[in-house]
Amino acid sequence: MTVRENRVRVAAVGDVHLDADVLGRYRPALEHVGEKADVLLLAGDLTRHGTTDEARCVAQEFGGLAVPVVAILGNHDYHSDQEYEVAKVLEDAGLTVLECTGTVVDLDGVRVGIAGTKGFGGGFAGACASEFGEPEMKAFTRHGREVAERFGHALAQLDCDVRIALTHYSPVPETLLGEPLEIYPFLGSYQLAQAIDAAPTVGLAVHGHAHAGSERGTTPGGVPVRNVAHPVIKQAYNVYQLSSVLAPV
Ligand SMILES: [Fe+2]
Ligand SMILES: [Fe+2]
Repeated sequence: MTVRENRVRVAAVGDVHLDADVLGRYRPALEHVGEKADVLLLAGDLTRHGTTDEARCVAQEFGGLAVPVVAILGNHDYHSDQEYEVAKVLEDAGLTVLECTGTVVDLDGVRVGIAGTKGFGGGFAGACASEFGEPEMKAFTRHGREVAERFGHALAQLDCDVRIALTHYSPVPETLLGEPLEIYPFLGSYQLAQAIDAAPTVGLAVHGHAHAGSERGTTPGGVPVRNVAHPVIKQAYNVYQLSSVLAPV
């Protein structure tokens, strides 16, 4: 059994909601991230209102680190209808920004594939939206399905040894524990978990968005899920070892 992937250390945080007044909050810990992790994932809601001024704060906070930084945007980062400009600011600072796309980073000889999407709501088994009735309801549900399908395709297509799924919305209800049940359909979708479980060798799924949720969950297919929203993990980032998912060699 190869154990190389167990050496891959993944740092992750979401929902930092940066603006000028909290600039520098995370930087002291980030200066040491290279000693503790091989890659840093940002799970969306990096800004408060999705402005380019706030994005420049994110670029200043998370740019120039010792490890690759791979990010997705969250719903807050879309609020000002400037998501492309926000992503451009982050990419100009050296971050990789994913949206239904993927990237592969070589970490100590292990090709780690990361596919990312903001994702969307829709709910979970037994309590989910359906593509039925009014056009608005069908559009809401259809968007969640289409995003999950495109994300799943990006995840499965990665040419790598082990995969990481990076989303803003949650793929499972377990990591929402602590949030009001009534808003679960706005916090995640079972279709994201279906996409994750359909891809091979997924070692970790990371999400944010659920500020009052719980850190740990598992997809129905057995992939570990971690809610890394800053209000949940209460530190600059958490570090996870990729679980052993590769076939024996
Ligand atoms: Fe958030
Ligand atoms: Fe959010």
